[in-house]
Amino acid sequence: MAKTRNEITLRFLAEPSEVNFGGNVHGGTVMKWIDQAAYTCAASWSGHYCVTVYVGDIRFLSPISIGDVVDVKARLLYTGHSSMHISVEVRARNPREKATRLTTSCIVVFVALDEEGRKVSVPKWTPRSERDRKMEQYAMRIAELRQKIKDDMAGFLDPDR
Ligand SMILES: CC(C)(COP(=O)(O)OP(=O)(O)OC[C@H]1O[C@@H](n2cnc3c(N)ncnc32)[C@H](O)[C@@H]1OP(=O)(O)O)[C@@H](O)C(=O)NCCC(=O)NCCS
Repeated sequence: MAKTRNEITLRFLAEPSEVNFGGNVHGGTVMKWIDQAAYTCAASWSGHYCVTVYVGDIRFLSPISIGDVVDVKARLLYTGHSSMHISVEVRARNPREKATRLTTSCIVVFVALDEEGRKVSVPKWTPRSERDRKMEQYAMRIAELRQKIKDDMAGFLDPDR
């Protein structure tokens, strides 16, 4: 159910087939839902096939119970040349109750590709509200920090990698 073109929410029902050894929804299932919602957001925005280049800042805040209704909201924060930086928030609810809780959040970056698999430019996202502007700044700042960590850690990586 799309609200605007830069934002989309996919809804899932946590089925017994998704259970982990602790009796809740498997973390890998949540990550798959996150990827699906972020892909839908990226493909809708760009009008192209898109691939994941980065998933990070993932935080599992609370478990999801089997039988919960799960909303996975993906929102475009920032666009580069071919990249789309998307925040994803996962909220769960017992369908017999009204209260929802935030269970997981993360940032996903997708790159748009053309028919030959080459990077292609995406339409620019322009923030509309103060909140949009703050979220865009957040995405840009976190990208800078990511690059800094990568540069700082470069000496520790296996040279054959
Ligand atoms: C996507 C792919 C074609 C890009 O190739 P590339 O030429 O090496 O890419 P670049 O280094 O120029 O980066 C492309 C964009 O991704 C961004 N990017 C790359 N690494 C990133 C990272 N760690 N975090 C955030 N953004 C990143 C770049 O900033 C660039 O953005 P821009 O075009 O808006 O400036 C290639 O990396 C690829 O095929 N990756 C595998 C994708 C995949 O299989 N995903 C999993 C299944 S969908």
